[in-house]
Amino acid sequence: MKLLLLGKTGQVGWELQRSLAPLGELVALGSASTDFAGDLRHPEQVAQTVLTLRPDVIVNAAAHTAVDKAESEPELARTLNATAPCAIAQAAQQVGALMVHYSTDYVFDGSGERPWQEDDATGPLSVYGRTKLEGEQLIAAHCPKHLIFRTSWVYAARGGNFAKTMLRLAKERERLTVIDDQFGAPTGAELLADVTAHAIRDTLREPAKAGLYHLAAAGETTWNGYARFVLEQAEAAGIALKAGPAAVDAVPTSAFPTPAMRPHNSRLSRIKLQSAFGLSLPPWQTGVARMLHETL
Ligand SMILES: NC(=O)c1ccc[n+]([C@@H]2O[C@H](COP(=O)([O-])OP(=O)(O)OC[C@H]3O[C@@H](n4cnc5c(N)ncnc54)[C@H](OP(=O)(O)O)[C@@H]3O)[C@@H](O)[C@H]2O)c1
Repeated sequence: MKLLLLGKTGQVGWELQRSLAPLGELVALGSASTDFAGDLRHPEQVAQTVLTLRPDVIVNAAAHTAVDKAESEPELARTLNATAPCAIAQAAQQVGALMVHYSTDYVFDGSGERPWQEDDATGPLSVYGRTKLEGEQLIAAHCPKHLIFRTSWVYAARGGNFAKTMLRLAKERERLTVIDDQFGAPTGAELLADVTAHAIRDTLREPAKAGLYHLAAAGETTWNGYARFVLEQAEAAGIALKAGPAAVDAVPTSAFPTPAMRPHNSRLSRIKLQSAFGLSLPPWQTGVARMLHETL
């Protein structure tokens, strides 16, 4: 089996290089790759890469993920998040490949308190959310053999992340201020990559499993709860902090104005994914604690 991975250097792309490797021959490309075109700013060139390589599976982990920046460069965001995925989907359909893609809780308007289900009405609040939704819709229209995973609050051990920022600030300051009115589940790139590999194998055996799925760690928290958990873990590991978990003050989102609006309710229901693939997604704390053990 031949697999093509796009976006190999991102949080999820890096972990996919590990989880996809045992499935077959893996060609992993980034935006700067020179052997084959992998720059999503040129959708027709990336489509040509698909037509040339003729993979059995394409996993697209590349995207315009700078949520605030997207507000001031909506055309680039649309090219990366919608036009390029569409071109890849059309090429995937031509060569008969399964297309795997990632989307986001930001396709929803964040209202209510219950976990969003896959068929709930969307209502993106930002350019990022709108372009990611358009990408989903174009893939579904052009390549029925797809897996689209909407996920939330992605972190990875490699590179910077929210947890590392909180740790750094807690070593520098007496108190931290973190918002407590957005609800979701921090989801590890490792978990996303592992579930992706399982789902690819299952879907190749049973094509009826193709479709749209919500994929997030179990449980829920706020950014404030997430920060306090990180500091609890750090204290338990004997790390000296100026601000412990009790020194994390709660404020509403309005205290930190940003160019892009974020949904208040980012809870994603895991029911469809767990029952389709026979998987059990672990609580968000498990992955965050593991990531901290690797990086502390
Ligand atoms: N991060 C989150 O919290 C979150 C939440 C929900 C959903 N998602 C979705 O999950 C997926 C993976 O996200 P992530 O967190 O792994 O993102 P990330 O770490 O920001 O990585 C984004 C990737 O996109 C690539 N990229 C950017 N511009 C490109 C271009 N012109 N051509 C080709 N590649 C380009 C980057 O590669 P270069 O560095 O080479 O440019 C990088 O590999 C995305 O679809 C994202 O929308 C993420």
